[in-house]
Amino acid sequence: MKREEFCAPFKGRSLLTWIDYTPEEILTFLKIAEYVKAQAKNNEVHQRFLGKTIALIFEKRSTRTRCSFETAFGEEGGHPVFLSTDDIQLGTKESVEDTARVLGRMFSAIEFRGFSQKHVEILSKYSGIPVINGLTDEYHPTQALADILTLKETFGKLEGLTWAYIGDGRNNTVHSSMVICSKLGINFTVISPKELFPEQKILDICKPFAEKSGAKITVSDEISLVKGADAVYTDVWASMGEEALKLERTKLLSPYQVNQKLMDMTCNPNTIFMHCLPAIKGEEVTEDVFEGKQSKVFDQAENRKHTIKAIMLGLI
Ligand code: CP
Ligand code: NVA
Repeated sequence: MKREEFCAPFKGRSLLTWIDYTPEEILTFLKIAEYVKAQAKNNEVHQRFLGKTIALIFEKRSTRTRCSFETAFGEEGGHPVFLSTDDIQLGTKESVEDTARVLGRMFSAIEFRGFSQKHVEILSKYSGIPVINGLTDEYHPTQALADILTLKETFGKLEGLTWAYIGDGRNNTVHSSMVICSKLGINFTVISPKELFPEQKILDICKPFAEKSGAKITVSDEISLVKGADAVYTDVWASMGEEALKLERTKLLSPYQVNQKLMDMTCNPNTIFMHCLPAIKGEEVTEDVFEGKQSKVFDQAENRKHTIKAIMLGLI
């Protein structure tokens, strides 16, 4: 496969959410990810970002996302520049619009991790260069592609699988997984207390995609709905920026902890356990499940790098 062929549909675009991408385009990114992963396993060295630069803006902390962007871009000859909010004037002394226009004159692309989805949209609108959402309060699209790659590697297919997400049903990871699953024909079940059900807005966005792909989207507070799931997925009970809600969330979500009893309720010996990480063991997941045979969490973490490289190859 030649780079020009697989990357052609994406050049110059931003990835703010998967909403703007067709199922075929998402599957093309997946193919690129499989391709670059095989190259990495083969110890091939490529310089596909030689002469390119990317600004990595982080308002929130990160291990996987930052390291994936930095290593994937740097080892291909590109120059990543890490900018935390302690370093730049984003939205404080300088407007996001002005920062975008400055970065657009100096960089080949921007990655943004922060609070506001609006900010990542402004960066894309005003910079004139591709912007990649590395997580906002609303969406975490690069995580979703890594998770899809992990599912494909495990089950050899995507369509018709069932992904059961258990825990806080309103966070960025759920939103992006629901979008990507509804586009790709993967059944998506959110199991959470009623207070934390996904917002109607996100369900309305996903409904037409699911109707087209045949994916079934279910929202319930019934844990027994994990039955038959191919993947049981959870995330932290309080996302970054929600630390003040921790006590309230712990009360609401304790019955939704992923433990071996819950994993056994799938009645499916092939169910895998997934988590975007970082995990707080003893809260949303028990140590035995996290460390157990069904756990794919470190495959997901590794796949962040291959999928992020694929996204950058496509867009830049
Ligand atoms: N999963 C994920 O985004 O991890 P980091 O917060 O470490 O980047
Ligand atoms: N929902 C989590 C994801 C971390 C990768 C958070 O936003 O903190």
